[in-house]
Amino acid sequence: MISDPSARTAEASKVDWKSDRVNTLRDNDTTTPDAAALRTAMVEQLRSEGELRTDPVIRAFATVPRELFAPEAPLEQVYDRDDVVITKRDENGLAVSSVSAPRIQASMLEQAEVRPGMRVLEIGSGGYNAALIAELVGPDGEVTTVDIDQFVVDRARACLAEAGYDRVRVLLVDAEGGVPEHAPFDRIIVTAGAWDIPPAWIDQLAPDGVLVVPLRMRGLTRSVAFVREQGRLVSRGYELCGFVPIQGSGANAERLVLLHGEDVALRLDGDQAADADALSAALTSERVVRPSGVEVGGFEPFDELDLYLATELDGFGLLVATPAAIEAGLAERSARMGAKTALDGVSFAYRASQATTKERTAFEFVVYGHGPDADAVAFRYVELIREWDRTHRGGPGARIEVHPTGTPDTEIGEGRLIDKKHTRVLISWPTSS
Ligand SMILES: C[S@@+](CC[C@H](N)C(=O)[O-])C[C@H]1O[C@@H](n2cnc3c(N)ncnc32)[C@H](O)[C@@H]1O
Repeated sequence: MISDPSARTAEASKVDWKSDRVNTLRDNDTTTPDAAALRTAMVEQLRSEGELRTDPVIRAFATVPRELFAPEAPLEQVYDRDDVVITKRDENGLAVSSVSAPRIQASMLEQAEVRPGMRVLEIGSGGYNAALIAELVGPDGEVTTVDIDQFVVDRARACLAEAGYDRVRVLLVDAEGGVPEHAPFDRIIVTAGAWDIPPAWIDQLAPDGVLVVPLRMRGLTRSVAFVREQGRLVSRGYELCGFVPIQGSGANAERLVLLHGEDVALRLDGDQAADADALSAALTSERVVRPSGVEVGGFEPFDELDLYLATELDGFGLLVATPAAIEAGLAERSARMGAKTALDGVSFAYRASQATTKERTAFEFVVYGHGPDADAVAFRYVELIREWDRTHRGGPGARIEVHPTGTPDTEIGEGRLIDKKHTRVLISWPTSS
């Protein structure tokens, strides 16, 4: 069966969390030398890789004992920069709460530019990130962290108290309504995957505040740092990220259109139409293969290409497939994590990459088209890859604007307009000339 992407971004912790273990496992005053050494190594690694950039954030990471916020996990996991410590799963085994990976926490705190004395709201509590924020705002600042889950709230309170951060306010709240009694906030940092931006977050943000939010746009999530500009929010940067989804009144699940039992599916965001029977037939019909001529290096990220395709293509989704389906030749390996797919009626095309050197140091994007219009949809896909390569690769990236719902089209610029419940999100691609 196809699993949920949020579960795939996170690794299972080996031990279930038990609240009474916080006090017995570790002593706040005697951080073990192992933990201290691992913390120093993690900070150095995040620094050398450019995720930690500024002195205050580096100091916060070097100071807060992360192990006190993940007592259920082995120290090596706690201090692995890419590892998530899952603290709760739902009845299907999917992660619903975690202490996020240090890499994404570093990246979001750098985006947020938290200063001493600020009032900060964190949405989604694990304890650790709130402690980092407490270090950044210092004794004159204020940190409020909220969670929708009583278990998470209790756990975060216990861990924060154990680590000596009892000034952090931990509240049980559905974040959709924000926390009006403690607003305005200089920074709002959302640590669960959001599909929309509820009015409360904008209303409760100080006039020159910054909102950092993992926002899902056409199935792709980016941690976007927004500032206000003339009645709207405008991005001042974004980063690739993955988070457990927002629950409660802001929850919004993607649709899964099954194409081959439960082994191959199209994951669609929003209300795009899809004829499951015709697309299933397209999957198993003869496909066209179109090399793009565009290459990337082995370690070069290409998430910008994905966002560009999601902007330019009218029909866009993610083709997902199980390892067995990939082994059986039903889809390319890129479908393991969600191949970015152009959808055009009953035809579709998606992308994979093929090594162009024996050492697998360079790869070419190759497009696979399926269905009666396979040629046309694959051709358009290839053209867009080439356009991205010519015009946007290495450029300033996308500009993301958030307008209140009801804003007329005439007051919104050119680009891909995505209508949500509370907002209209516009993605455009300025060129650097
Ligand atoms: C990734 S965890 C938070 C990680 C945490 N900030 C840390 O220190 O690593 C996401 C949390 O968001 C919470 N959450 C989901 N929907 C929410 C909502 N509507 N309101 C408040 N919290 C929510 C979940 O219960 C979960 O605990």
